[in-house]
Amino acid sequence: MSASDQGSPAAASKGAEPFAMHPPAARLLAGRSALVTGGDSGIGQAICYELAAHGAAVAINYVGPPDEAHRMVAEIAAAGGSAAAVAMDVSSEQDVERAFGEAREAIGPIDLLVNNAGVEHPYPLLEMPFDAWRKVIDVNLTGAFLCAREAARMMRAAGRRGAIVNISSVHEQIPWESFSHYCASKGGMRLFAQSIAKELAPLGIRVASVAPGAIETPINAEVLSNHKESAAVRAEIPLGRWGKPQEIARTVAWIASEEAAYITGATLFVDGGMTLYPRFI
Ligand code: BGC
Repeated sequence: MSASDQGSPAAASKGAEPFAMHPPAARLLAGRSALVTGGDSGIGQAICYELAAHGAAVAINYVGPPDEAHRMVAEIAAAGGSAAAVAMDVSSEQDVERAFGEAREAIGPIDLLVNNAGVEHPYPLLEMPFDAWRKVIDVNLTGAFLCAREAARMMRAAGRRGAIVNISSVHEQIPWESFSHYCASKGGMRLFAQSIAKELAPLGIRVASVAPGAIETPINAEVLSNHKESAAVRAEIPLGRWGKPQEIARTVAWIASEEAAYITGATLFVDGGMTLYPRFI
């Protein structure tokens, strides 16, 4: 494994190359209107760029400083794409209702939601403060519920078929010490997604989960900057390297498109084989 394969978190948080639209014939999402939660960094940022490159108009959600989301909007627009920035705390019902309204104003009714916003911070059970537990469940799980409900309502009202894509994790399946709150949120997301996939199928709305493994993003900056820890993670990955945000983004664009029209309720693991438990071979 070369040093460059390990990547740097800062580089990985931006598009690897300058943003450019895909050629018209290769665009999978022309005419679609997408909203991506947590769209201004890490995997969410790569997803925004990829959906926009495929011709979707993208509402880039951020919480906190607006600068990066606005920079992305300008960059996408300058290359001939369409995007808008929307502020929203996904765990606030009021915020979600307002922000989806703003997104509809800016880019039309949403027919593609990517529930990407997520937080994690380790605590062993014996030391876990209630607030830490609640924050992870509120953002990762309740946020996915609030946004899915709002998106589904909007699609039904507009008579639009569409898709809801949840960014889950290998930890919807693999238990993880000191991350019981995170695992509970992702395990919960799995059955939430499968249940609403059944409910929404008659409306022509598909629901799918994309489950990343270890990806070079700011959320993993600490581990990535520690050679020993980063190598220990690599040892758990049969393909022998961390993943890139763009590798998740490309999967999301595909699964949201008509190419995947017969997929609903499924989780697609994009993890270099991490869920194959290489340590136990
Ligand atoms: C987490 C990462 C972790 C990966 C594999 C992801 O869900 O966000 O921090 O490296 O799972 O354990």
